[in-house]
Amino acid sequence: MSVSVTSFGTLDDQTPVSRVTLCNANGTSVSILDYGATLQSIVFAGKDILLGYDTIDGYVNANGSYMGATIGRFGNRIANGCFLLDGQKIQVSCNESARHCHLHGGDSGFDKKMWRYQIMCDEEEPAVSFSRTSPDGEENYPGNLQVTVTFTLHADDSLCLDYNATTDKNTVINLTNHSYFNLNGYDGEDILDTLLYVNADEITPVDEGLIPTGEFMPVEGTPFDYRSEKPIRDGVYGQHEQVKIAGGIDHNFVLSRQGREMRLAARAYSPNTDIQMECYTDLPGLQIYTGNFIDEQDGKSGIHWDRYDGFCLETQFFPDSVNQPAFPSVLLAAGDTFHSRTCFCLSQKDHVR
Ligand code: BGC
Repeated sequence: MSVSVTSFGTLDDQTPVSRVTLCNANGTSVSILDYGATLQSIVFAGKDILLGYDTIDGYVNANGSYMGATIGRFGNRIANGCFLLDGQKIQVSCNESARHCHLHGGDSGFDKKMWRYQIMCDEEEPAVSFSRTSPDGEENYPGNLQVTVTFTLHADDSLCLDYNATTDKNTVINLTNHSYFNLNGYDGEDILDTLLYVNADEITPVDEGLIPTGEFMPVEGTPFDYRSEKPIRDGVYGQHEQVKIAGGIDHNFVLSRQGREMRLAARAYSPNTDIQMECYTDLPGLQIYTGNFIDEQDGKSGIHWDRYDGFCLETQFFPDSVNQPAFPSVLLAAGDTFHSRTCFCLSQKDHVR
């Protein structure tokens, strides 16, 4: 196993950006940038299965795609960027102006921040922690929030993300990672034939602005029923009002679980490469996003991407929970410690070619 740090260029103000690469004995490696605590690559079985860029400019100019980034303080959407906390109205930025909502932490979300990193050298399982203090009032969120995300690459090719946070005032929190996976490799074909299983009986349907209506919709008999493995395309091209609204799948799946134990949330498998990825989490929701709004663009190695070239598995509390009393609470009380864990477990089935 090894850990290495390389330069990943500089920001416009000359701040140097570093890339930390963790490698295990199988030759699996993951690279994370200190800009946005961004997962930049996952190389497994000789393929890089993450969309992203070769340069820091790519990430800085990503134009709302949040490739690989750590998302905070509040992932997904907040209607009108507005909610009540302890009786006080909080107004955060409406960075998604077309929908007049707050998306993925707003104008100055965690994805655009520099993080401090600390490498933890374990004999078998290399890890690196990224930390930052989100000051009281950042984006108008109350409380100094100390937040750490630790990426650990295990010997069995699972990558675990541990999120920890504390605050000195009551605040709200919804942290996730926004990686776009393509199990055919970032330079392979699109994700539509990737097989997907999702451990969810319901989704939280959305209105035209992609804000949850507050209802729970059973997946039974809809394109959102991935309880038996099926190609992603079946959902993306399914005939359903909810699919039309989002141009594919871009929905919060209500994970079948009890309490906060780690459970299998989803499994994806590419018949082309035989690469399988399981996603485990202790969180209640999973935003499955099939890359419906990926702008045509050039990514790593100049590869040209378009929609459906990557999928995201964003483990989370439900979107707009701050305005939905029936959704699990996203309150982090002053003095309390938040912890959650998500693991992406990679394997390759035996295959005779
Ligand atoms: C959201 C999409 C959004 C994408 C990129 C996803 O998490 O659900 O609606 O377009 O992030 O910003």
